[in-house]
Amino acid sequence: MDELRKIEQEVRQCTGCPLSSDRTNAVPGKGNSKAKVLFIGEGPGKDEDAKGEPFVGAAGKFLTQLIESIGLTRDDVFIANVVKCRPPNNRDPFPEEIEACWPYLLKQVKALRPQLVVTLGRHSMDRFLPGLKISEAHGQAKTYKGLWQPKQVYLPLYHPAAALYDPKKRDVLFEDFKEIPKILKKMANTKEDDS
Ligand code: URA
Ligand code: SF4
Repeated sequence: MDELRKIEQEVRQCTGCPLSSDRTNAVPGKGNSKAKVLFIGEGPGKDEDAKGEPFVGAAGKFLTQLIESIGLTRDDVFIANVVKCRPPNNRDPFPEEIEACWPYLLKQVKALRPQLVVTLGRHSMDRFLPGLKISEAHGQAKTYKGLWQPKQVYLPLYHPAAALYDPKKRDVLFEDFKEIPKILKKMANTKEDDS
């Protein structure tokens, strides 16, 4: 069994923090095991908890639109969350829940080795790029300590849910998404130069 499947099974059975007691389904994450881009959201909502899949509700539909706006599909990428079980009433995950769930996300990024990690929202950004303000940092790629190699490229973006009822943020997200193909192209060119 491949590593991502193994992680998925572990997550589905996990009782590592109190969020396990309220969940219908754990939401390990989903996507292409060869994805160049890994999206990391915050945690499952009601629809995700019901289905056991990430970003399948309203925010998820918008995320699909954003991904398709740059010529990709959800099958090209991998989508995961900082916590794998739904916090009750969609409250923010507690630091100790994020901590308890962190080993799974770490194992996922190490198994995937994506070229680009896109963080969605403040909680996801804080985990990888601590100390930034999302209103200033969104849409700007950062090279930072990598979890599976010395350096890694991260792109912090607003959470799609924050843009659902805010047309200005919607526009910003569509604009910021255009950075993704640019970053991938730049990385491909750099690789060719190296060889
Ligand atoms: N919001 C998230 O952060 N993750 C999901 O999977 C769905 C909504
Ligand atoms: Fe386990 Fe993470 Fe779910 Fe907590 S949130 S029970 S650590 S999978």
